[in-house]
Amino acid sequence: MTTNMSVKSAPERILMAPGPSNLHPRVVQALIAPLVGHKDPYFLDLLDETADLLRHVFCTRNAATFALPGTGGSGMEAALINVLQPGDTVVIASAGFFAQRMVDICERLNDVNVVVVPGTWGQPVDHDVLLEAVRQHRPRAVAVVHGETSTGVEQPLAGLADSCHSVGALLLVDAVATLGGVRLPVDDLGIDVCFSGSQKCLSAPPGLAPITISDRALAAIQARRTPVQSWYLDLGLHAGLWGPDHTYHHTSPVLSLYALAEALRIVVEEGLEPRLARHCLHSAALSAGIEAMGLEQFAARGFRVPSVVTVLAPEGVSALTVRTQLLDEVNVEISAGLGEQADSMWRIGVMGHSAQRANVMLVLSGLEQVLSRYGYAPRGSGTSAAAAVYAGATA
Ligand SMILES: Cc1ncc(COP(=O)(O)O)c(C=O)c1O
Repeated sequence: MTTNMSVKSAPERILMAPGPSNLHPRVVQALIAPLVGHKDPYFLDLLDETADLLRHVFCTRNAATFALPGTGGSGMEAALINVLQPGDTVVIASAGFFAQRMVDICERLNDVNVVVVPGTWGQPVDHDVLLEAVRQHRPRAVAVVHGETSTGVEQPLAGLADSCHSVGALLLVDAVATLGGVRLPVDDLGIDVCFSGSQKCLSAPPGLAPITISDRALAAIQARRTPVQSWYLDLGLHAGLWGPDHTYHHTSPVLSLYALAEALRIVVEEGLEPRLARHCLHSAALSAGIEAMGLEQFAARGFRVPSVVTVLAPEGVSALTVRTQLLDEVNVEISAGLGEQADSMWRIGVMGHSAQRANVMLVLSGLEQVLSRYGYAPRGSGTSAAAAVYAGATA
């Protein structure tokens, strides 16, 4: 067999889709550091340090805080299948593609009653309706997506945990699109299981799922009547690997963990608060530019998550074609929509190392350039509007 492919020909893109985001050069260096064995004392120290760094980013004191091998979806699946047992009820707030994935996972579970609290895409799920469902069904778990990447909506979480805990339910939160970029104080919010992905606001390569589990949730998992149906995703076993004895469960993805640890150190060096503010600033600049051009956002005003800006394509413009043109001509990646919105919406990430002024400007100028070909006359200049936001921020 012959092949003319080589990693040397991998294009260096500007990644402005909602994940993966670009890697900081230090994270790239971490990926080519010398490989050690997964029981090497250096690596075991790195596991301990990574757990501490994750506690810092999740704003939690949970002992069971670590990174699962696998993408964000492994965190989602692990959270659900560890907490739910046959005979249990789960309430899922669903107004987007990733919430629907949680429904799909739960519907595969043996004898779990899945109660969906539906919402409209582009809006959060109604908080009061969700609370009422929790009171009525008294479920084992309530699952919500913090930042719904398919719609750009942030689901308000304040007060939800109290309602869950008052009926004995655990609160599970998908923070795949938000951890490290959007405020999410896990302990203050009373979240029991929170999972994320390495490749979005943390700007590490895809392939790891940070997760944190409250003592209450861990006790519930340990008291299960039946073993977790997946041996590989059994959170108790992962807690053993990341605990003081580092009990073997799998061969840790050493280089990926070097990269995650380095990405987390960068978060700490930047400071969590300044980092969240940076995401808000670039998101505001991008939104201002989009609106100045006369384009409409999909997510309802007041509920827009800073890490994902969703934009409706103008009438007669294919979102998928424009996405390809931006990639080919401007070297910048944004995403088209998901589900019914596949060809009518763009999803632009404002995440981690990619969340920079130059990248925001490039997306806006690229969109202006490409859309003009479709006869779309922008109402005003997107880049000027974004520049005004930046000027205001430094004034
Ligand atoms: C909110 C949300 N949940 C879950 C996932 C799944 O993560 P992954 O693709 O890393 O498995 C994603 C991915 O985009 C996401 O945005």
